[in-house]
Amino acid sequence: MASTTDLGGFDPFDADTLQCPFPHYARMRAEAPVLLAERLGVYLVTRHDLVLDVLRDPATYSSRFGSVGMPMPRAEREQMAEVFAEGYPRVPTMLTADQPEHTRYRRLVSKAFTPKALAALEPEIRRIAGELIDGWVDRRQIEFVEAFAVPLPVRVIARALAVPDDRLDDFKRWSDDSVAGIGTVASFEERLAAERGVNEFQHHFADQIERRRRDPRDDLLTTLIDARLDDDDPDVVDTRPLDLPEMLSILQQLLVAGNETTTKMLTEMMRLLGERPDEWQRLRADPTRAEAVVEETLRLSTPTQGMFRLVTRDTELGGVSLPAGSRVVVAFCSANRDDSVFEHPDLFDPDRERLREHLAFGKGIHFCLGAGLSRLEGRVALEELLARIESFGLADSNTFEYHPSFLLRGLIRLDVELGDGGLEGGADGAAPVPSG
Ligand code: HEM
Repeated sequence: MASTTDLGGFDPFDADTLQCPFPHYARMRAEAPVLLAERLGVYLVTRHDLVLDVLRDPATYSSRFGSVGMPMPRAEREQMAEVFAEGYPRVPTMLTADQPEHTRYRRLVSKAFTPKALAALEPEIRRIAGELIDGWVDRRQIEFVEAFAVPLPVRVIARALAVPDDRLDDFKRWSDDSVAGIGTVASFEERLAAERGVNEFQHHFADQIERRRRDPRDDLLTTLIDARLDDDDPDVVDTRPLDLPEMLSILQQLLVAGNETTTKMLTEMMRLLGERPDEWQRLRADPTRAEAVVEETLRLSTPTQGMFRLVTRDTELGGVSLPAGSRVVVAFCSANRDDSVFEHPDLFDPDRERLREHLAFGKGIHFCLGAGLSRLEGRVALEELLARIESFGLADSNTFEYHPSFLLRGLIRLDVELGDGGLEGGADGAAPVPSG
């Protein structure tokens, strides 16, 4: 058995680890579920119960990690400040805010994410998914990420934000710029270019918001502009409506949090099903299984592998002392394979017990605001794929390489063969097959 010191040298950015981190996390859960990863100066929390302990105590574990950047040489800092000055202030909102500010943002933005608003989006999601599939369903082979998993969530959120079709490419670029450098090593030039893209995004939406103020519509932007809080609400200390920089930061956060994650979920779902042709046929016979398949995909793939927290006071977690100022990563991906909650956690089994206890969307006050939307996208996408594709396989050309990111996990590409051809992934589908 490896020693804890051994594990302390764990490097989440190691190329092989990025491809398959799960055995490392299994060792941590067993040997050191709160582990100081010395190379990063970050405590990794890997057990399901301990991850929950952190998520349920936002006073001790702050989400204001956005303010803790890597130190930068002065010249670079100044150059970056110049680029920032060309945009609107970047305000820490929901994901990177603590209570009570978080409560204000969350309550205001939730007004745009009601079950009614989601239900209104469903036909649009179905239309976009159907249109995308119809564009390639007659081909013999497609690359699924580019053909479906990227454009579906981008188009859905673009539609929700009323982005015109001729700006869709810009919108995708802004979305990429918004996530550049998250969990990966980006060069200074890349970060500068990305921040310039974010400025473009801000100017586009500042203009749109101004238009909505003059000419309100029945859409997400108008809902954000009109969102008001009840002065009598005891949980909200500040009932101001959202100002422009706040709205822009929130819109950007919807892209950061929503697009790549959903892309990665859809791609992993296709991989898992491509490896299990019998499950595809079961689904075709009974599409009501789609919801459980999406849920099990979320558990196994956990596109948001982990998230930072900042320790606000000296505390203890799992027998480990955490001094104030420590940085913590809650490893959702590891919690989701904890065998004290999920039996045979590495197996794909949509019928498993306690499936809904997965933490792919987090838990507590920061629970994913878009969980309903991405679940809906997953289910509708699967239903539309099932309706049009009799059978498919994974092409021999696949290398199953994942993006080299520690926080966002997803396949770079997935070659899918439509019809009867293709690899059967080595799985006969009769029994659950290990994944990951
Ligand atoms: C499969 C897709 C998705 C996954 C796996 C995912 C995962 C997560 C996770 C784990 C958190 C909690 C972070 C924390 O505790 O610090 C979160 C928060 C959040 N997500 Fe998602 N997300 C997905 C899709 C979306 C979509 C589609 C949107 C919006 C359109 C969205 C918007 C947000 C926002 C705004 C937050 C911050 C909420 C808060 O701090 O109160 N997410 N997401």
